[in-house]
Amino acid sequence: METFRIAVIAGDGIGREVIPAGMAALEAVTQGSGTTLEFIELPWGCDYYRTHGRMMEEGGLEILAKFDAIYLGAIGAPTVPDHVAVWDLILPIRQRFDQYVNLRPMRLLPGLASPLASRAPADIDMVCVRENSEGEYAGLGGRVHVGTPHEAAVQTGLFTRHGIERIVRYAFRIASARPRRLLASATKSNALQHSMVLWDEVAERVKAEFPAVEYRKYHVDALAARMVTHPATVDVIVASNLFGDILTDLGSAISGSLGVAPGGNINPERTSPSMFEPIHGSAPDIAGKGIANPIGAIWAGALMIDHLGRRDLHDRLLSAIERVVAAGRVRTPDLGGRATTREMSAAIAGEIGAA
Ligand code: NAI
Ligand code: MG
Repeated sequence: METFRIAVIAGDGIGREVIPAGMAALEAVTQGSGTTLEFIELPWGCDYYRTHGRMMEEGGLEILAKFDAIYLGAIGAPTVPDHVAVWDLILPIRQRFDQYVNLRPMRLLPGLASPLASRAPADIDMVCVRENSEGEYAGLGGRVHVGTPHEAAVQTGLFTRHGIERIVRYAFRIASARPRRLLASATKSNALQHSMVLWDEVAERVKAEFPAVEYRKYHVDALAARMVTHPATVDVIVASNLFGDILTDLGSAISGSLGVAPGGNINPERTSPSMFEPIHGSAPDIAGKGIANPIGAIWAGALMIDHLGRRDLHDRLLSAIERVVAAGRVRTPDLGGRATTREMSAAIAGEIGAA
C-alpha cells in the first residue's frame, strides 16, 4: 500500500465546486487499488487574501514542497486584482517548483458536439506542451512615471536556450509516443526576430534527435486558424507560455467547452511536486450556482494519478468520464444539458464504481 500526500488548493469561485468532484472521483478510483491519496486542504485564495493580505500563508512554498503533488481548482475573484492573485500564488508555484511543462490534452470526447460544424472525435485530438517557466510570463519588467501622461510599462519576455531546449525535447517525446507522431511548433519568428528566431533554431537542433517525428513550424496566428479550419492536421503542439495559454483555451473550446480540459504543471525530473488543475478559471459569472462542469477538474485528477505512477487508474477515470459523456443523460449547461456539478460528479463516481 502506498500513500501520496496531496495539497489541495480549491481556491475561488467554481474552483471550490469542481475540486470536491475531483476528490470524489479520485477517492472512488483509488479504493482497493493499493494506492491511497491523503488530501490536505489549504484555504488559500482570494478570501484568504482579504483577511491576510496575501494569497497563501507565509512560507507557503516551503509547505507545498513537502507534498507529493498539488491539486488546484482556480483562483481569481473580483475583490483582488487578477495579476496580484496570479503572481501571489500560481506563477510562483510553477516557477519555484520548476514545473516547466504545462501539458494540456484537448480532445473532442465521443458524444460531445464541437462548435465547429460536423467535426467528429477523430478530428479533434491534440495535446499542447506549453512552456511554463519563462517566456512572456517570466514576470520581468516594470512601470515608471506612474499616473503621469508619460507613464510607461515594459514587460520583457525571457527565452533561454536551456528553457526552449527542454520544452521542445519534452514535446518531441510526447509526439514520438502518439500514433500520428506530428509536432507543430507555434512560432512568430517573422515579427519577434529575437526570441522566436532563437526558439526556431533550438527546435531545429532538437529535431535531429527525433527523426520519426514529423515536425512543422507554424506562425501562431496561422496555427490558431488551422486549429479551426483543419483541426485533424494538428496532433502535438509546442508553444511558449503566452501562445500556449491562448491556443489551449481555443483547443478546449473547439472540444466542446472550457470546462472539459485539464492541465498538468509538470516537473519532469521530479525534484519538486507537480501541480494539476483544470485549465479554466474561477468563472465568477456562474460561481455559486452549482452548475460548473467538473470534467476538467476530474481529468486533471487523472493526470495527477498518472504522474504518481498509476496509469491504470488514469485510464479508468478517463473511461468513466467518457462513458458518462457518451451516454448523454447527465450534462452540465455548458454541454447543453441541465445537470448540476454534483449530479455530474455523482454520475462519474458511480461509473467508476460500476467498472
Ligand atoms: P474562466 O475560465 O473563469 O471563464 C471563461 C468562461 O468559461 C466563463 O463564461 C465561464 O462561465 C466559462 N467556464 C469556465 N469554466 C467552466 C466550467 N468548468 N463549467 C462551465 N463553464 C465554465 O476565465 P475568465 O472569465 O477569463 O477568468 C475568471 C477569473 O479566473 C479571473 O479572475 C481570472 O484571472 C481567473 N483565472 C484563473 C485561472 C487559474 O486559476 N488557473 C485560469 C484562468 C483564469
Ligand atoms: Mg489560460
